[in-house]
Amino acid sequence: MLKLGVNIDHVATLREARYRGQQGQSRGEPSPVDAAIAAEAAGAHGITAHLREDRRHILDADIAALRKAVNVRFNFELANTAEMVRIALRTKPEIVCLVPEKREEVTTEGGLDVAGQLPTLKRTCKKMAKAGIEVSLFINPDAKQVDASARSGAQFIELHTGQFGEHFGNARTRQRELNRLIAAAEHAHSLGLRVNAGHGLNYENLTTLHAVPHLEELNIGHCIISHAVSVGLPRAVKEMLRLMKGYRG
Ligand code: PXP
Repeated sequence: MLKLGVNIDHVATLREARYRGQQGQSRGEPSPVDAAIAAEAAGAHGITAHLREDRRHILDADIAALRKAVNVRFNFELANTAEMVRIALRTKPEIVCLVPEKREEVTTEGGLDVAGQLPTLKRTCKKMAKAGIEVSLFINPDAKQVDASARSGAQFIELHTGQFGEHFGNARTRQRELNRLIAAAEHAHSLGLRVNAGHGLNYENLTTLHAVPHLEELNIGHCIISHAVSVGLPRAVKEMLRLMKGYRG
């Protein structure tokens, strides 16, 4: 069964739009923890949160509170920096997803250059393994990055579906991006990697992604949180789960 990890970063984005810069423990609405609890109750198989270096949405206190509140798989997204690795080892999520991070970007733009940073990623994978934390590497659907991921010690890759999402409106380029994802998923599976996917997925493009084999989990944020503004989070999560049900692997 294809699993859904709900990324709740944008609940914090909305909160920080009002409360950013305010010191102290008490913060206003909406609460990422309440959202995580609601998503879990609606059937989400995992909760994902990204602690960015600039703390623009999720804050350190959110990560600690989410760790306590989340009963399904907690997927902690982070850049491979000494500070974030320290926080992850202290938090002990079930899994970390290592992502590239640039200050200027609105959201995570490209995949991780695993091939170019293999020694440092290997060190982080080793530390996580020692702490009983699985590792996923967020990569573009590219054979070189898949090959490097298989040598890193990570159990999972998360295929970056952003280009697929961006090209969805054009039949020719959509198929090209879909083919890249299919090839990368097959290649990763053949090397013993487990395969997740995420970024830019939505209610419109989701079923087309069913053509990609070997997927275990999708991490989806923006469209679910946005749809929840109109229909509520439980319904937004359930509608996504319904679309994912037809996946045959
Ligand atoms: N996966 C990763 C690694 C991401 O960085 C993001 C964006 O935070 C997502 C999935 C979710 O993307 P979206 O918000 O477009 O659904």
